[in-house]
Amino acid sequence: MTSQRIVSGIQPTGQLHLGNYLGALRNWVRMQQALAPGDQAFYFIADLHAITVFQDPATLRQATREMAAALIASGIDPARATLFSHSQVPEHAELAWVLGCVARVGWLNRMTQFKEKSGKDREGASVGLYTYPVLQAADVLLYKATHVPVGEDQKQHLELARDIAIKFNTDYGVEIFPLPEPTIPPTAPRVRSLRDGTQKMSKSDPSEQSRINLTDTPDQILAKLRKARTDPEPLPASEAGLAGRPEAENLVRIFAALTGRSANDICAEFAGRGFADFKPALAEVVIAALAPVSARLRDLLAHPDEIDRLLAEGAARARETAARTLAEVHRAVGFLCP
Ligand code: TYM
Repeated sequence: MTSQRIVSGIQPTGQLHLGNYLGALRNWVRMQQALAPGDQAFYFIADLHAITVFQDPATLRQATREMAAALIASGIDPARATLFSHSQVPEHAELAWVLGCVARVGWLNRMTQFKEKSGKDREGASVGLYTYPVLQAADVLLYKATHVPVGEDQKQHLELARDIAIKFNTDYGVEIFPLPEPTIPPTAPRVRSLRDGTQKMSKSDPSEQSRINLTDTPDQILAKLRKARTDPEPLPASEAGLAGRPEAENLVRIFAALTGRSANDICAEFAGRGFADFKPALAEVVIAALAPVSARLRDLLAHPDEIDRLLAEGAARARETAARTLAEVHRAVGFLCP
């Protein structure tokens, strides 16, 4: 079997929330734990991506450290996986330039996230926000990723990365880039906002009530879940009865993902009971899952120098692989190489 190279990233904007945790991070940790000899995992904090929207510099620096600590607290082991921040590995931006000359404008015009994020003010959005899917392609192709653990909202970007890899390999008659596969968790591909079951849980939602952060206290978790929007019907007897009830479905799926039980099983247990019963039970499950993570996070944040040291070490390791791929790319496109 050929070796696996697992690559994924997360933006350091706002707090790590339950959507990131269930949609992506838990898979990062699982995949790191399953690494066979010869496999590698690269996980990074996407600070280059974060500045596509203006960030206060001091806040960004602090958020990057906090995100690194949150990843380690969630189970990422910097000794087994290479953990770094984007900006400390300049090869990402260098490869993005070359790939930007391979990607087509029409491909970027189809990216739904740009449309969502730029909203009505398309002309006022940064050029970086428009082109960042190319950077994301560079992020994974730089390490010749085979598997990319992400939530469902990143699927379209991964498809773009595959299209860019195919076009690069074909145009230059090389086989530098393997095609990266998204690894999307079947149980929690898309965790929804607690205020609106049609929207994803997101760091950028202005309402704190819409998400559960990994740093929330048990009281905050209970309060947010108590206030979570639901419909007036009781819980159905089976999963099929959740259709058309996005808020109810979201809460049941969160329960299922955290306990490893099926949504059907949970519906059977709570059949006919109201959310006043279900929400405290769910809060208990969420609190139990997050308690060890937040305790470890508090310890780590007491030693910011140690976090900076781990990130610098990770970046140096990442650069060894990144520089090799970039050299192959430079040769392929016809740049003068040493
Ligand atoms: P970001 O920072 O928005 O989210 C990080 C990861 O969390 C997943 N996620 C969710 N999954 C399920 N339900 C949700 N509500 C939810 N919200 C977020 C995301 O799918 C993601 O896996 N563009 C990326 C960062 C990035 C990247 C990359 C990812 C930059 N380069 C290369 C993979 C490979 C982003 O903004 O993720």
